[in-house]
Amino acid sequence: MKGVRSIVFGCLLATTGAIWAATLDPATQTAFVNKLTAPPVIDARGGGHFVIPIISYSANLGVKSPTLGSPMSTPMYCYDGVFPGPTILAKKGVQATFEFPNMLVDGNNNPIPHMFGVDRTLHWANPLNQPNTTGGYTGPIPTTVHLHGGKLSPESDGHPDSWYTPNYAITGGEFASPIYVYPNNQQAATLFYHDHSLGMTRLNVYAGMAGFYLIQDSTSEKLIMNGSLPGPDFDLPLHIQDREFNDDGTLQWPSTGVNPNPTWNPQFFGRFMLVNGKVWPYHKVQPRTYRVRLLNACDSRFLNLKFSNNMSFTLIASDQGFLPAPKTVNSVLLAPGERAEVLVDFAKLKSGAVTLTNDAKAPYPNGTSPNAAVEGRIMRFQLAREEDLPKDTFIPGKFEGIPRQTLSTTLPVRKIVLGQKTDVFGRAEHFLGTATAGYLRWQDPVTELPQLNSTEIWEIYNNSNIGHPIHLHLVAFQLLSRQTYTATVYNSTGIMTNVVLTGTPSSSGPTETGWKDTIYAPPRQVTRIIAKYDILGNYVFHCHMLSHEDHDMMRPFTVVP
Ligand code: C2O
Ligand code: CU
Ligand code: CU
Repeated sequence: MKGVRSIVFGCLLATTGAIWAATLDPATQTAFVNKLTAPPVIDARGGGHFVIPIISYSANLGVKSPTLGSPMSTPMYCYDGVFPGPTILAKKGVQATFEFPNMLVDGNNNPIPHMFGVDRTLHWANPLNQPNTTGGYTGPIPTTVHLHGGKLSPESDGHPDSWYTPNYAITGGEFASPIYVYPNNQQAATLFYHDHSLGMTRLNVYAGMAGFYLIQDSTSEKLIMNGSLPGPDFDLPLHIQDREFNDDGTLQWPSTGVNPNPTWNPQFFGRFMLVNGKVWPYHKVQPRTYRVRLLNACDSRFLNLKFSNNMSFTLIASDQGFLPAPKTVNSVLLAPGERAEVLVDFAKLKSGAVTLTNDAKAPYPNGTSPNAAVEGRIMRFQLAREEDLPKDTFIPGKFEGIPRQTLSTTLPVRKIVLGQKTDVFGRAEHFLGTATAGYLRWQDPVTELPQLNSTEIWEIYNNSNIGHPIHLHLVAFQLLSRQTYTATVYNSTGIMTNVVLTGTPSSSGPTETGWKDTIYAPPRQVTRIIAKYDILGNYVFHCHMLSHEDHDMMRPFTVVP
């Protein structure tokens, strides 16, 4: 990352050749002057069919020209032409179907090339079947949509090889149908949908392809009715992402390389923090309790969120829904892909404002601390004057939580390993694999084949020096424990033997007592999860640092009869 920030290969004007633009200095921007906005809502709670095209669009992210001070626009690729994509509301048990036509075409209906440098040396979608060599890609952009946390059939899951180009002209091997069927047979939760194209996810999500998907059920409705949860007027979903910009307001994605060029990089950390598509926004709040839904949609950056006045708040839900019990905390750690729901009582603000901050090191947990005056701040909440506000009718009840279900199994555990090597170009590359087979690539044969309706424990051994958020498609899982260990790990292969557990198994963190779909696997620890595999077919599990996922830190798993 270092050294590529000052000059970047811009592919934005790819039709007219490369441009060189300087990096936008965060110091040229004033924080907390952009009003927080909410994405438009698509209400699918009554079922139906919805068409959400993927469009090339110029967004106003609240970034100002460093010389003129005027607003700049930022070309993006977004769902329905908004960033973040529309917030989809769904209801448990009510099926809805979706189409996400890829409209990344020019005025003559010809596919446009990607705005960022596409590294063709990765194992990637490769629509034109070109050799995997250096040199950028200017062909049509592949897209596929994954509902993160959704319990879906394989055909609707947005498998990395289910990509399609504009007009469905070229499709990947797992493409089944343009129609995505979302049965919504799962409890109330804060999910999100985002692109999942093989070896392109980091680029497509960075370009704007992500949005909220909120499922409600009779429990969540009852909690609102009885005053345990604030209603829709005080339900605040916050989509948090980091970005870098060029001086002209275009998004900057570092991809300048020597061999290959453009190149993939092991990670990305932007200094501009965006919430719901605005840089360092502010939001006026009433002196009352809000339900705040937090999503870490960054590529590689972990977020440890707290308020500048250190006020406490109450955790009520994680990835897959409500926790067994509410928990009062002063901070919440979210790895990329994780969500949390919290109750924040802004009546605690005696006056003025409070800033939502992040102090998670990058990479997590042993990297560099964020600059508190730049990427260490996220947004500001300002107390509004009562007379400017709608009447508050909230009568606080007590949020009780949903009891934790007990899962158990007698099946042997699976030992998954994570580790780091360098790839053929000398770049640090992270892998998934198994203790007995060592590091495996995406295209290696499937090693994880759970039987339909079986419950399995997976042990994730992290032999690398950084933390990785591991996400499994299909299942909601529970964290059992984490523990330190020693082992013999063969560096060249990743094969791991002589595992000796050392520390005491640690219990779950405050966000980890409920159902999860993405879990932080700390370095040099084993993270144990348990889940039931209850739909047949091909799914994937991967690191949710998108840059890792795009370069082989992803593996298939297949649920078999
Ligand atoms: Cu949110 Cu497979 O990803
Ligand atoms: Cu997912
Ligand atoms: Cu990773």
